[in-house]
Amino acid sequence: MTGVLLLLALVVAPPQVPAATAAPALEAEGRQGVVAADHVLASQIGVDVLKAGGDAVDAAVATALALGVVNPQSSGIGGGGFAVVWRAKERRAYALDFREVAPAAATPDTFTRKGLAPDASRFGGLAVAVPGEVAGLAELHRRWGTRKWAEVIAPAADLAERGFPCGEELSSVFDRMGSTLATAMHLDALLRREDGTLPRVGETVLLPRLARTLRAIEQGGPRAFYEGPIAEALVKAVRAAGGRLSADDLKAYKPKARKPLRGSFRGRTIYTMPPPSSGGVALLQVLGMLEALKDLPREATDGQRVGLTIEAVKHAFADRAHWLGDPAFTRVPLDDLLDGKALRAKAAALDHLRRLEPAAYGVIAPPPSDSGTSHLSVIDAAGNAVALTTTINTPFGSLVASGDTGVILNNQMDDFTTRPGQPNSFGLMQSERNAVAPGKRPLSSMTPTIVIEGSRQRPALVLGGSGGPRIITGTLQVLLNVLDHEQSPGPAVAAPRYHHQWLPDEVRIEPGAVAGGPEALEKVGHKVDVGPLHFGAVQAAALRKGGLRVGASDPRKHGQAAAY
Ligand code: DON
Repeated sequence: MTGVLLLLALVVAPPQVPAATAAPALEAEGRQGVVAADHVLASQIGVDVLKAGGDAVDAAVATALALGVVNPQSSGIGGGGFAVVWRAKERRAYALDFREVAPAAATPDTFTRKGLAPDASRFGGLAVAVPGEVAGLAELHRRWGTRKWAEVIAPAADLAERGFPCGEELSSVFDRMGSTLATAMHLDALLRREDGTLPRVGETVLLPRLARTLRAIEQGGPRAFYEGPIAEALVKAVRAAGGRLSADDLKAYKPKARKPLRGSFRGRTIYTMPPPSSGGVALLQVLGMLEALKDLPREATDGQRVGLTIEAVKHAFADRAHWLGDPAFTRVPLDDLLDGKALRAKAAALDHLRRLEPAAYGVIAPPPSDSGTSHLSVIDAAGNAVALTTTINTPFGSLVASGDTGVILNNQMDDFTTRPGQPNSFGLMQSERNAVAPGKRPLSSMTPTIVIEGSRQRPALVLGGSGGPRIITGTLQVLLNVLDHEQSPGPAVAAPRYHHQWLPDEVRIEPGAVAGGPEALEKVGHKVDVGPLHFGAVQAAALRKGGLRVGASDPRKHGQAAAY
C-alpha cells in the first residue's frame, strides 16, 4: 500500500527544482548530452528526452515547449522563434524561421492612425502577430526528430497540468508587473491563484487551460492549434482586444526553411540566423571587423579592445537600422553587408579614441528590462546540435491572453518600424524596409549560432540569448570569451558585459566589463550607463575535444543547464 502511495506521489507530484544552493552550479557537464536553457526544469526535460534516445532536435523541441510553461513571460506557443540545427552525419547546418507574421489585415499605417494609443504596438490586440511557435517546433520535429511527437510535448503538458514551483525569474516579473497584470483581465486570471494572489518563489504554479491546449496539440498535431476550436478562441481573444487576427491568418501560417549564414572566425566556421533576423548579420559583421584588427589587445576587458568592439557594434547596428527587413519584402544586400573587403576597410577606420556622432533621430526610449525571450542550446551524443531562440517579445507579450486556451499572445508587431522615425520598445531605430505589411515578418535580433571546429567538424560552441538588441552583443561577447579568451561556457556567460546599439548613443556596462571602469569610456566621450541593468541572458553549450559536453545558463536569468 505504502509502495502504491509512494508511486502515486511520484507520478502526480509537481517536479522538484534541485535544492537551492547559495550559487547554483554555473556549468553542467557530461559525456553524452547537454541542454542549456534558462530554466533548470526545462534543461532537465531536454536531458531526459536525450536519455530516452531522442536526438538534439527532440530535446530542443521538448525544452522549448517546457520553457513556454515554466517561463510563460518569455516564450510560449503564442510566440515564435528561430533555430539553427547542426546535423553531424551530414556535416551540414540548417536554419528554420518560425517567426510570427503580420496578419493579412495589417497595413503600414496600422500604428500611425489617429486616435490610437501610443503603445498600441506593444499592448493589446493590434500588437499580436500570427504565432509561429507550434508550426516551427512541429516542423523541426518532423524533419529531424526521432521520438514520437507525443513524447516531446507531454513533459510540457505535464508541467502545466501538475504544476511546477514558481522560479525566481517568473516571481521577479510578477513583482515588477503585478499592477500591470491586474489591468490585463484574461492574462491575470490565468496566472492568479484561487485566493487572488500571484505565486511566489517555490510556490506551485498551475496552468490547467494551457495544459488542455498542449494536450490537444499532443493528440492532434500542429493543426489542432492553427484550425478548429483553439484557433477560434485565439482569434476571438485578439479581436476582443482590438486586433485583426483572423482564422485565415492562422490557417495560412508556415515556417520557412532558410539557408543559414556562414562565416568564419579564427579558423572556425560559424553558422547563424539570416534575415528576417538581424542577429546573424550583425554578429558576422562585428567578427569580421575584429578579425581584421591584427593588433586587437588580447585581454577581454582592455579599454582599447572594448572601445574598438563598441565601434564595430555601432557600425553593425547602424547597418541593421538602415538595411534590414524581411527578405520576402525588401532586398537585403547581404553580400555587401558581409563582404570581407568592406568589413576590413571599416575595421581599418575604427578608432576607439574617436566616437562617431550618430544622426539625430529624436527622442529615444530606453530599452525595457529583460524577461521576454528564451534561448536554449543542445548537443547530443552523436554531435548533433541545436541553437534555438523563442519569444513572445516583451514580458507576457501583448498582455492579451486567450482565457479559454491559456495561450499568452506575443507583441511581435512592435519589432516592425511601427512609426517612422521613432524607436521601438528596445530603443531600436529601423527603416522603411521593416515597415508593417500583411504577411511580413518583423525584423529580429535573435542570434542562434553554432560554431564548428576542427577537421572532424565538431559543434564546438552552440549559443544565443535573450534581451532584444542585447542578444547580439551578448552572443558576440560570450563567443569571444570562449574563442578568444579560452573561457569555459560558465565563466564566459557570467563575465560582465557591455552593450551599445548605435542609437541611443550610449554604452551600458556591467561593473568589471572594462578595465579602468566607466571613466575609460567616458574619456573618449561616450555616455556611459552603469548596471545593475538588464543585459539579456545567454545560454551556451560546448563540445570539447575529448568529447566532454559543457553547458551554462546565464545566472542573470537564474537559469541552469543539465547534462549526462
Ligand atoms: O526578435 C527580437 O529581436 C525581439 N522580439 C526579442 C525580444 C527579447 O529578447 C525580449 N527580451 N528582453
